Amino acid sequence: MKNLISMRDLSKKEILYFMEIAKKIEKGELNPNMNKKIAALLFFEPSTRTHFSFATAMKKIGGQTITMRGTSSSSVKKGETFADTLQTIAQYAEIIIIRSPIEGAARYASEVVDIPVVNAGDGANQHPTQALLDLYSIIKTQGSLENLTIGVAGDLRFGRTVHSLVQALSEFNPIFKFISPSFLKMPTYILDDLKEKNIKFEELAEIDEKIDELDILYVTRIQKERFADPEDYEKVKGSYILEKSMLKGVKENFKVMHPLPRVDEISTDVDNTEFAYYFPQAKNGVYMRQAIISILLGGVK
Ligand code: CP
Repeated sequence: MKNLISMRDLSKKEILYFMEIAKKIEKGELNPNMNKKIAALLFFEPSTRTHFSFATAMKKIGGQTITMRGTSSSSVKKGETFADTLQTIAQYAEIIIIRSPIEGAARYASEVVDIPVVNAGDGANQHPTQALLDLYSIIKTQGSLENLTIGVAGDLRFGRTVHSLVQALSEFNPIFKFISPSFLKMPTYILDDLKEKNIKFEELAEIDEKIDELDILYVTRIQKERFADPEDYEKVKGSYILEKSMLKGVKENFKVMHPLPRVDEISTDVDNTEFAYYFPQAKNGVYMRQAIISILLGGVK
């Protein structure tokens, strides 16, 4: 495996390999050494978790990072092309980790440079490193990825994290409950994939409608920045909010996950319940991203 661009590129066996390596790293059973390796973090969209957890991960395995955030202080401002920028950065680093608002940007980057490329989010398309850390979080809380009932709530249309996660989980015989306003439903191409694989799913309108059946409720933010018409955003904003009072009767193993950032879709009164897992989930990103970098750079034998 050279690049990590889409969850669609990974087999079940490969997904489980990432889980195994992240677990060994977390337990201290594996200590990859990326001394003298440089990761270039090219972030053309804002980020807190993905950027900082990749930077932390690289430091923890002995490597270093160079960073471009936006294009305002780069030679893109002088008219340099994306391809030339990538080929130049590839002279300075061993791996490129890229976030872009443009769908397909990471795939394109992987075709332009010879070093590994990791997709840290491309528009509304994919966020595979988030999906891997989400799966790792699910294993840690549920003991397995198999046969779980997963509620996926919020912006299922533009949310790249849920596109990657649903595709990955479909290898593990889940039952999905998709909860969203009708304007923000899961794209047809993903639903068609699920039908082809005989994965059970239903589409619901209320966040607490079948909450007592769920092992995981994965909540997402409405992706304001992806709406072509701000009026459409105004119509759906705040259309669902998970509150502590809705958690009565949930299963003992139930957890609330969220890729973060949140706006208002999970009330802060959920934070101090035993069900909130979104901040530990963010921490799991460091173990998983140590695993991702180490595997792609050949540091895991
Ligand atoms: N989950 C996630 O991608 O967060 P950031 O946008 O802060 O990186």
